[in-house]
Parts: sequence; C-alpha cells; structure tokens
Amino acid sequence: MPLLKNSDPPQQCRWHGYHTTAELEQAAAQAILRAAQQAISQRGAFYIVLAGGTSPRRVYELLSKADTDWSAWHVYFGDERCLPPDHAERNSRMAALAWLDHVAIPPDQIHPIPAETGAEAAAQAYARIVEGIKIFDLVLLGLGEDGHTASLFPDHDWGNTPDAPAAITVFDSPKPPPQRVSLSAHRLRAAHQVMFLVTGVAKQQAVTGWRKGVRIPAAAITPANGVDVYIEAALLKS
Ligand code: 6PG
Repeated sequence: MPLLKNSDPPQQCRWHGYHTTAELEQAAAQAILRAAQQAISQRGAFYIVLAGGTSPRRVYELLSKADTDWSAWHVYFGDERCLPPDHAERNSRMAALAWLDHVAIPPDQIHPIPAETGAEAAAQAYARIVEGIKIFDLVLLGLGEDGHTASLFPDHDWGNTPDAPAAITVFDSPKPPPQRVSLSAHRLRAAHQVMFLVTGVAKQQAVTGWRKGVRIPAAAITPANGVDVYIEAALLKS
C-alpha cells in the first residue's frame, strides 16, 4: 500500500495506550460522555456517529448504564452492511442490543442507515439525512486488519475529496457482506472529535503501517482537531 502523498492532508494522531481492553473501554466511554456533556452544555444537543464491528460493543454497554441527558443525543452510523434491519450482523442491531434499546434517546433521534434498501438507495437517502449536520460532535471509528475504517477499504474510493458525496456505496467489500454503505472520508472528517477504538493483535500490521505513514483509509480521516486513537498499549510497541 502506498505511503501518504504530500498532497494528503496531514492527520494529527493522539495515541492513548491502555494496558487492558477493559481500561480502554472504560476510558473511551468516559471520553464519549465528556464530549456529550460539553456539546449539550454548549449547544443543547450532541450529534454522534457510531462505529460498527465488534470493538465498540462493550463501550456501548457501558454507555447504556450512564447518567446523561439522553433527550439531547442524536445518533448516526458511520457505515452499515446491506442486510435486513434485524440481522445479527447489522451494526445498528449491535448498537441497539448493547445500548440504544436500553436508554431514553427519542426514537426519532436515532438514525440507522437504511441499508436494507440496497446500497445505492441507502447512500442517497443517508446523504440527505446527514446533510443538515454541518459538523458532528463526535465520530467513533474502528480499524480493520487491512487498515479500513467504517466501510472505506484499501484500493477503493474513500470519498476523500471536497466534492465527495456524504455517503458512498461498496459492492465488493473484502469484509463480508460485500454490499455496504459508508459515510465518506470527507464527511467523517467534518467532526469536532474523532475517536478510533483499536483492540486485538490482529490489528498490529495496520497500526504499524498507520504509524509509519502508510496510506490506509484510517489515515484519510483528517478532522481539523486531529484524531484520538484509543488503543491497546501492546499494539504501540512495534
Ligand atoms: C464494519 C465496521 C468496520 C469495523 C472494523 C473493525 O461494519 O465492519 O464498521 O469498519 O469497525 O472492521 O471491526 P472489529 O471492531 O470487529 O474488529
């Protein structure tokens, strides 16, 4: 995979290493709640984009027990698999079972990607849903073994230019299922804060490349305030 080009906007990474996954998950949940408190106190609302996959599950479970003004939370998703809404592999279902079904966020403030309608229709619909939000308060992202994030995969279009649509389609995802919808890199960087959650030795190669300047999709998420990577300390050693 190529190294970052000079034309690529620089990504400011703050690496927060934790000796155990449990410590990382607690710290991440607390950071999310702090971001919510700050946004709610300043603007009366908190707009968050959720990560998919399995890494965030425990963080979402911790959030389900938190004391916060849920009525001010507005929840979006960074990507979704084109599966039925109740499918076990849906990112929205994971978040609902771990967290959203257990707290009093008004249902009309939870915005799953309608990926069951197919990638094209869902991407167009979701671009309209998010177009009213200039800046998200917080974007949560995971990291794949190949350096992907959300459903932005190596050797694919990441929607990395200012004219990129807010949501893009994937029909040949290397990570099943093949058909997905993702917020674009351009849309994901429009955030006050971006937090990556990175756990598991399988991510070592991606992390090592990321830190060496390899042009992985995660490195294309370049918000003005930089990104915070919540990561197992062992992954920072090589
Ligand atoms: C997805 C996710 C994807 C995920 C990474 C890490 O829909 O698959 O959005 O980007 O965050 O693949 O997945 P794990 O957290 O399961 O390792």
